[in-house]
Amino acid sequence: MTKGKVALVTGAGLGIGKAIAERLARDGFAVAINDVSVDSAEACVEALRASGATATAVPADVSNRDQVFDMVVNTVADLGRLDVMVSNAGIVQVDPILAITENDFDKLYAINVKGVLWCAQAAAQQMIAQGRGGKIINAASAAAHTSHAVLGTYGSSKFCVRALTHVMAQEFAAHGITVNAYCPGIVDTGMWDTIDSRAAEVLGIPEGAMKQKALDGIVLGRMQTPEDVANLVSFLAGSDSDYVTGQNILTDGGMVMI
Ligand SMILES: NC(=O)c1ccc[n+]([C@@H]2O[C@H](COP(=O)([O-])OP(=O)(O)OC[C@H]3O[C@@H](n4cnc5c(N)ncnc54)[C@H](O)[C@@H]3O)[C@@H](O)[C@H]2O)c1
Repeated sequence: MTKGKVALVTGAGLGIGKAIAERLARDGFAVAINDVSVDSAEACVEALRASGATATAVPADVSNRDQVFDMVVNTVADLGRLDVMVSNAGIVQVDPILAITENDFDKLYAINVKGVLWCAQAAAQQMIAQGRGGKIINAASAAAHTSHAVLGTYGSSKFCVRALTHVMAQEFAAHGITVNAYCPGIVDTGMWDTIDSRAAEVLGIPEGAMKQKALDGIVLGRMQTPEDVANLVSFLAGSDSDYVTGQNILTDGGMVMI
């Protein structure tokens, strides 16, 4: 069903985005690999091509609206169309409320919130022009459902993604475009290494303590892998999710229960 279709994944040079790109390629999509790091986007493309997949690199900074629209144009120029947009790129900051600076706040919101908005605009414009519908899939987080001390900028940005997902689903439904978000828990990537070491610094706790506390709250008893997240995104990108829209779906090993 997905053969001949094209998916674009942002922040796919590393971590969760890379696992999503690999999974969608195995599902039969041709994949456009975005990252702000040209080197990691190209390395991911090289590995995908070596495994027999069709892939192209479309590096861009998702916080830059013009670059995002160019990224979609380049995807269509290289791969012919766009069926699935996975807005995965995101960053984290770990600071108590009293320590958040305007620069830090603006930087995180530019990537985590504006980036998701620009990607949806550019993708929807292309999908509407194609007239075949499509799927927009945003990276939210368990932190879009519940909030944590020292993650004020990050968590609030993911609540914004959750709200944008609701609004996009309502506005794009008439064009056959579904919009959903995946909400991972504690995924073993560079992002959680950053959270753990910064939490040790700002809270004066031992390295590893923040990660252990988070792990203690997971009923399945293990940290999540990027592939666990990719399994959900595969469902959201495929036809089995055609009747699912406006949802922010938790995949967190039973950490947050709603
Ligand atoms: N790791 C977790 O536990 C976790 C949990 C919930 C949600 N998430 C979300 O999943 C997504 C991916 O997280 P991850 O853990 O793989 O992160 P990561 O830091 O391991 O990888 C993020 C990738 O995004 C790229 N990137 C950063 N800024 C960018 C920009 N402006 N434009 C394009 N690319 C950019 C980076 O270069 C990197 O390759 C993020 O949105 C994150 O908030 C992660």
